[in-house]
Amino acid sequence: MHLSERALTIQESAIRKLDAAVARAHGVHFHRLNIGQPDVPTPRPVMDALAKEDGPVLAYGPASGLPECRAAAAAFHAKTSPGLGAEHVVVTQGGSEALLFAMVALCDPGDEILVPEPYYTNYNGFATVAAAKVVPLRTSLDEGFALPSDAALDAALTPRTRMLLFANPGNPTGAVYGADQLRRVAKWAKRNGIWLVADEVYRAIWFTEPPLSALQLEGHEDHVILIDSTSKTFSACGLRVGFLVSRNLALMERIERLGQARLGPQPRGQRAAIAALTLPESYYDEVRAAYRTRVDAMMDALAQLPGVAFHRPEGAFYTMARLPITDTEAFARFLVEEFRDRSTGQEESVVVAPGPGFYADPRFGRDEIRLAAVREEKVLRRAIEVLGRGLETFRNK
Ligand SMILES: Cc1ncc(COP(=O)(O)O)c(C=O)c1O
Repeated sequence: MHLSERALTIQESAIRKLDAAVARAHGVHFHRLNIGQPDVPTPRPVMDALAKEDGPVLAYGPASGLPECRAAAAAFHAKTSPGLGAEHVVVTQGGSEALLFAMVALCDPGDEILVPEPYYTNYNGFATVAAAKVVPLRTSLDEGFALPSDAALDAALTPRTRMLLFANPGNPTGAVYGADQLRRVAKWAKRNGIWLVADEVYRAIWFTEPPLSALQLEGHEDHVILIDSTSKTFSACGLRVGFLVSRNLALMERIERLGQARLGPQPRGQRAAIAALTLPESYYDEVRAAYRTRVDAMMDALAQLPGVAFHRPEGAFYTMARLPITDTEAFARFLVEEFRDRSTGQEESVVVAPGPGFYADPRFGRDEIRLAAVREEKVLRRAIEVLGRGLETFRNK
């Protein structure tokens, strides 16, 4: 039977590729540093709101989300970007659906999306579904993964370019873009009639200074779209509630239509999201402190490994580390299938996400891995120690 080109070419998640091999390895304790699944407990008020029944029928909700949830998200962002109202927000099934909606709303089949790479690997999947093309713009660990220059942007621009998409703070880089960089690329996008799509699902998790939101860029109200999510900020990945936010009301009308086609996002999840969005400010301080401790522990431990270079994250909870080897796909598989550290009496190994999955062309990133600091400090230190032993063994093979 016929299967579409899109179904046949959509990528397998680079992050989950090793899952089957992990499941086959019985009795091995794997430190899973490959997945950005936070381990910080979901706040109690979110759990309580989720448990609350709201009538005898689980009914549909409005296509763009419950008005009170849209208003809560608008109020949350209005703390830093004044003037936002419920009309500027559409509730989606996670940031993932917001990204898909943005691509479908802005791109016709074959249109192009500029993305600084390394980038969040699922952008490829969304682009495949939207029949759009990701055009990568190289950034590098040595330059702190700074946004591409205007000259690099000019060189990538074609009549089919529709949007510039980036994550800030970055996954997989942990980089936070400075206000000057953001203003520069926003001006470039405006000058060229390009949408700026800022994926800010990690915005609450920063370690040096709070990232500027793209919604705060004055003079860019008409061409900026923000992607947000409850997944990381509130440790609520399973809630599947995200947001698409823009001041461009003509765009929001079209997003509402996309929402109508899949009916509304789950109302109960949205009530839990309201509980999350109205948590006291102290909650964010606690979350940042928890990730700062984890990230610091991981960086300290990585610094002990000879020949390993890495970018100290300014936000989010990932780092891209460069290893003294040339095939991190083979190394990641070796860790899962062969290497076992038995120094504590049990069999231990590590799962990492190989670098090529974060590049459009898998010939790049072959000496890099992405690590997620989503375990307690002590566990992370041990995991990096095991990683170091695995690396040594792999290099001496
Ligand atoms: C950069 C980035 N954007 C978007 C998402 C999607 O998150 P969700 O659909 O859970 O909101 C993720 C998830 O890891 C991510 O890392």
